[in-house]
Amino acid sequence: MVQLVGFAGSLRKASINKALLQAASGLMSAGDQLKVLAIDDVPLYNGDIEAESGIPTSVVSLKAVIERADGLVIATPEYNSGIPGVAKNVIDWISRPADDIARVLHGKPVALIGASGGRFGTASAQAAWLPVLRTLRMKVWVGGGSFFVPQAFKSFGPEGSIDEELKQRLTAYLAGFVQSI
Ligand SMILES: Cc1cc2nc3c(=O)[nH]c(=O)nc-3n(C[C@H](O)[C@H](O)[C@H](O)COP(=O)(O)O)c2cc1C
Repeated sequence: MVQLVGFAGSLRKASINKALLQAASGLMSAGDQLKVLAIDDVPLYNGDIEAESGIPTSVVSLKAVIERADGLVIATPEYNSGIPGVAKNVIDWISRPADDIARVLHGKPVALIGASGGRFGTASAQAAWLPVLRTLRMKVWVGGGSFFVPQAFKSFGPEGSIDEELKQRLTAYLAGFVQSI
């Protein structure tokens, strides 16, 4: 049994990346799981908070579940061809204190997926994640190619439902990631 966890790098209720991740969690093979993590309670990183009151409870919980998980899925939006601050902020907090990076993140399999309104999906944002994940010595899964959802308004229905083509693509991608683990 493979236990994945994932977060979407958006705080929007109607986020297409939240919907993509939620759909992914429903498409796992029997016996495997993808637990969706909430990031709403993660404050903006501030070294003063860390120095004065330590790692926030919300971050401690995220670190614990990521450490236990067999792999991480990041559903990233794209802002101005890069990683939205909200998403980067989560991984920055998770990398604190630096002494915990090896235990929590080194060698952790990670898959990047993303949906955007643009023609290139989240290609630029995903490319921008690579040096971040490499710095943290995470094991980026590339075996399934890149998973983008361009012009996402065409693939998402009301209430975050996804169309059949995307469902099939996502199912195959997740199965490949699980297989690699
Ligand atoms: C500040 C900002 C910058 C954006 N830049 C891009 C971009 O570079 N490429 C793109 O495809 N979409 C861009 N978008 C549109 C997003 O893809 C779209 O808002 C998407 O719904 C955001 O993801 P979410 O629904 O998960 O929050 C941008 C949106 C915002 C608010």
